[in-house]
This record gives sequence, structure tokens and C-alpha cells, in this order.
Amino acid sequence: MAYKITMPNNIIYGKDALKESRKIIKQMGKKALIVSGKVMVKIGNVSKVTELLESNNIQYDIYDEITAEPTDVMIDKGVQAYKDGKCDFLIGIGGGGSIDAAKAIGAMITNSGNINDYMGKVIKSSPPNIVAIPTTAGAGSEATQFTIISNTKDNIKMLLTGADLIPKLAIIDPSLAITAPQKLTAATGIDALTHSIEAYTSRRANPLSDTFAISAIKRIFNNLRKAYRSGDDIEARNEMALGALEAGIAFNNSSVTIIHGMSRPIGALFNVPHGLSNAMLFAKCLEFAIVGEKKRFADIAKEIGACSIEDSDKDAADKLVKEVESLCQDINIPTLEEFGINKDEFFENIDKMAEDALDSGSPSNTRRQPSKEDIINIYKSLWD
Ligand SMILES: [Fe+2]
Repeated sequence: MAYKITMPNNIIYGKDALKESRKIIKQMGKKALIVSGKVMVKIGNVSKVTELLESNNIQYDIYDEITAEPTDVMIDKGVQAYKDGKCDFLIGIGGGGSIDAAKAIGAMITNSGNINDYMGKVIKSSPPNIVAIPTTAGAGSEATQFTIISNTKDNIKMLLTGADLIPKLAIIDPSLAITAPQKLTAATGIDALTHSIEAYTSRRANPLSDTFAISAIKRIFNNLRKAYRSGDDIEARNEMALGALEAGIAFNNSSVTIIHGMSRPIGALFNVPHGLSNAMLFAKCLEFAIVGEKKRFADIAKEIGACSIEDSDKDAADKLVKEVESLCQDINIPTLEEFGINKDEFFENIDKMAEDALDSGSPSNTRRQPSKEDIINIYKSLWD
């Protein structure tokens, strides 16, 4: 059997990556639309990029209205800004939301209609060059063909895909993540861990995606607590940035599974940050999936030293669940209740959430196929 692996054309990573990308960024275009959020402007990350552009005589406009969960409305405005400014390439700088928004804006420059028209379809026409500069170690959007945009009319998070949405250039500079606050470090770090564990245990996993997934899992388990406790630990930040990138490459090529499928509806309806809703579902979804596939979960437990070689696959897989629970506890992941969600309101929406989860297609990548009833039961179990 043959496999296909895709990743960004160029990845520049490590200390001073932004400075080192001086030459290559010149090949991207003559005028950039920088897609970002107001916080990125305020803390000076956007000005690090504009300095780089100015030193290369590259023009730019800044569109800084993107939040952590970009919407169709933000994309429409971004497309207008790109056209009004006569830009010819895009730079997404920030968390996954800003990079996803840059991709969606790019898609709508070369494709007709509105971003909402592309739900469930493949985006075919190639966007302008996209440069991705992540400032959190989490989403892995710098390495994927996916973009997640909220459809504000139907209250759903759309998972949109197109092979050409993979950035032409990804710049991974750990110094940009130093200012990320603890809560953000926790939520995004767990998102990256979810990507890597789901990629390794997906039905669509392949030998190379496995290599990236296992490496990511080890880096994240070894460094997320350190990055959470000491935000200025540049080594831990660098390892987390690399782990998130590897996890992005892994799931771009083998896809995510039940956790992401169930997580998006919680985010769309209750405004829970993506990484947090993943974390809230993590252990319960693993317990479900392990019943149908023990070996791959056991492999992970062995790789991270969570079990002994003598343990059965079942015992090793159970120990992985405990390890995930302990990590979530150490980085203070809240429950739905602690986050402030109303239980009655949650239960009223469970049926819609289960349908939206299944419609996304992600749950069917799980090696144990969940039914709608299974998904409903997992949602309910979050309140046990
Ligand atoms: Fe994610």
C-alpha cells in the first residue's frame, strides 16, 4: 500500500527563526495582508513581522480583527481588506485562529461565493501564498490543509479542507510564545496533545504520520508542565512549538477522531476555547476508544514511560488515560461546570451536538465507530 504525506513547502524553526526567514519571505509576494488579532498587535508580535517586511521593502496592510474562534463575518471583512489593499499574499500571525483565518481569506480570494458554501466540500482553487507564524504551541494550523471557521447563522464550527490551504511557509519561533499566559499555554498544549494521540490512533494513520505523532506526544508530555509553570523557559517553549508542529503534520495526514468531532460543537454553542473542550472530553473519549483498540493506546503509554513492559495492552492503555487525567489536573483544566456552563442548557443541546459531531466526519476515524447514542452518553458522562 502507498501513502501520501503533505506538509508546508518550507519550515523555518528554532531560535531566531523569524530573523532567519528574511530571504525566503521575499519570495512570497510584494504586498502582504497581515491577518491577526488585537492582542498580537498590542504585545508587539505583529511589529516584529512588520519590521522584517520593511527591511525587505515588502509592503503590508494589517487586518487585526481576528479572535481565537474566527467567524464567517471576519473572513468576509478580511477578503475585502485584501482586495482593497491590492495585496498579493497573506501572513497569519497568532494562535490557530489567525492562521485559520488567513487560510480562509486566501481560499475566498480565488474561489467564488462565501466561506459557508464550502462546508463539506473540498476547496479546490489555489489561494495566494500563505505564510503562517504561530505564537502558541497548539493548533498546528501552520502544517495543515484545514481551517475551522464558525458559521454564525447555523451556530456550527465548520471544518473546511483543501490541499492548497497548507501554508507555503511556516515560521516557528519560540520567542513569540513567551508571552502566552498560563491558561492559553494549557489549552493550546492539550490541543496539540489531542492532535498527536488522535493522529496515532486514527484509522487513517500511516507509518510516517505515526513517526510525527509519537515524537509530538513525547515532546508534549515532557514539556507542557514546564512551559505552563515557567512561561519564560525558552527550551520548553521551543519543544512545545516543535511538538505542536509535528502533531499538525501528523493529523494533517491521518486526521483527528472522536475528541475533535465532539469538541467543536461544545465550542460553537458554549464558547469554550477549543483546547479546553478537547481537554474536558479527553479521558472519557479515550475510555470509549480503547474498548475497540488497545494496542495503539498501549504503544503510546510505553513510549512515554507510563507503564511497564510487562503490562497487558489493556493495563497500559488504562495507564495512558490516567496520565492524561493527571496532566490535565496539573495544568488546571476546568470541568464544564467549573467553566460556568449551565447543565440544563447543555443537556437541551446534546442531540444537536451529537448530530453535528457525527456530521463533521471526525468520529468515524476512530477505530471504534461511535453511534449517536454513544456520543450522547459521552456528553452526559462529562457531568458525572
Ligand atoms: Fe485541535
